[in-house]
Amino acid sequence: MSEIRDINFWQSGAMKIQWVKNNMSLLRSIEEEFLRDKPFAGLKVALSVHLEAKTAYLCKVLAAGGAKMYVTGSNPLSTQDDVAAALVHDGLEVYAWYNATDEEYHRHISRVIEAGPNIIIDDGGDLVNLIHSEYPELIPNVIGGCEETTTGILRLIAMNKQGSLKFPMVLVNDAKCKHFFDNRYGTGQSVWDGINRTTNLIVAGKNVVVAGYGWCGKGVAMRAKGLGASVIITEIDPVKALEAVMDGFKVMKMEEAAKLGDFFVTVTGCKDAITENSFMNMKDGAILCNAGHFDCEVDVAGLKKIATDTKKARNNIDGYKLSNGNWVYVLGEGRLVNLACGDGHPAEIMDMSFAIQALSAAYLVKNKGKLQDMIINVPDEVDREVAERKLKFWELEIDKLTDEQEKYLNSWQID
Ligand SMILES: NC(=O)c1ccc[n+]([C@@H]2O[C@H](COP(=O)([O-])OP(=O)(O)OC[C@H]3O[C@@H](n4cnc5c(N)ncnc54)[C@H](O)[C@@H]3O)[C@@H](O)[C@H]2O)c1
Repeated sequence: MSEIRDINFWQSGAMKIQWVKNNMSLLRSIEEEFLRDKPFAGLKVALSVHLEAKTAYLCKVLAAGGAKMYVTGSNPLSTQDDVAAALVHDGLEVYAWYNATDEEYHRHISRVIEAGPNIIIDDGGDLVNLIHSEYPELIPNVIGGCEETTTGILRLIAMNKQGSLKFPMVLVNDAKCKHFFDNRYGTGQSVWDGINRTTNLIVAGKNVVVAGYGWCGKGVAMRAKGLGASVIITEIDPVKALEAVMDGFKVMKMEEAAKLGDFFVTVTGCKDAITENSFMNMKDGAILCNAGHFDCEVDVAGLKKIATDTKKARNNIDGYKLSNGNWVYVLGEGRLVNLACGDGHPAEIMDMSFAIQALSAAYLVKNKGKLQDMIINVPDEVDREVAERKLKFWELEIDKLTDEQEKYLNSWQID
């Protein structure tokens, strides 16, 4: 039995899913193949990914492949109730609603694990963590799983080092066709979409501080520059910091950047990127948000403790007054701003990420029992196939090596 807010919302959800489907050509082609080949016939798939329209379409594609789907969201503020309703209307089991409490969120992710899945599609590691810690008796059913994001992969690597990971997991995030595009261009565009539609303020001429110059941070900084902001990067890695300098950005410590920023975006995957010392140095009206997976990057709990007053300033904007009289504003409670305050990445981007998810899940089934390692990289052929299909759908052609060129590239002697 599904647990969603209201099935009557389904028509609006169905419309959103149809819209993204129209723009997800790779997944459409995979859906046709899955309908024909039924790679997941008789298998249960548990999925925990931000539950909005693109994810819903991935669920439908896996269901078309014969999977019995058990779906939940990977963040309480990114679930869209109408989308959840549309999936239930289509016969999938869904356990999620917008703004779930911690207890409800835990119950929802528990339900999909209690179904006894054979494949796990995870985003941030919550399902894998839960089955290992609370439902170890269900582990033997699991053929393997796929992990969507950087933070989830860090957790998997830590588990594997300890020898605690008990089934193979494909590192979807590490595929080129995932993080080159999703983390950089997807996060870059959708973070500013979320900030702009929530604040309705100008970015041009302002100082934007981006904490973390990894794949996501590069995208967020690049698009901030495009919107006319002066961009400041904070980092802990000297190589990334140098890269930011040569990309034309200012680099400094957060305690210095705190004094200058009008907008702050954290994308570190680390806790406490912005804490109390920085809040106290910020300008009146500074806007803070996070795009990293967990809501521990901006220390909102610490901010609540030191605030002398609070207010709801606008939908998805909470104001906190500090003892120096300044107000600072947090978007989407410090959860991923592009999903809590927006619709997430563009459909054409998630088309690639989810094509890799779908093909990786099929790869796990095809290689059931044969995979020796617990940590599996997406095979190069999958990356190549996704890129080739995407170019084809966009009607773009590239050159092919001639035999002569191929020979030249593979030899060390020059004739
Ligand atoms: N919002 C989204 O839609 C979305 C999409 C993809 C990934 N993510 C999440 O975003 C986060 C970053 O992902 P990524 O792929 O860019 O990772 P990454 O590893 O490529 O980059 C993270 C960067 O942050 C830096 N860093 C770490 N701690 C720091 C600190 N305390 N202060 C300043 N810099 C620090 C690291 O040196 C690194 O350069 C992860 O949590 C990931 O799961 C979010």
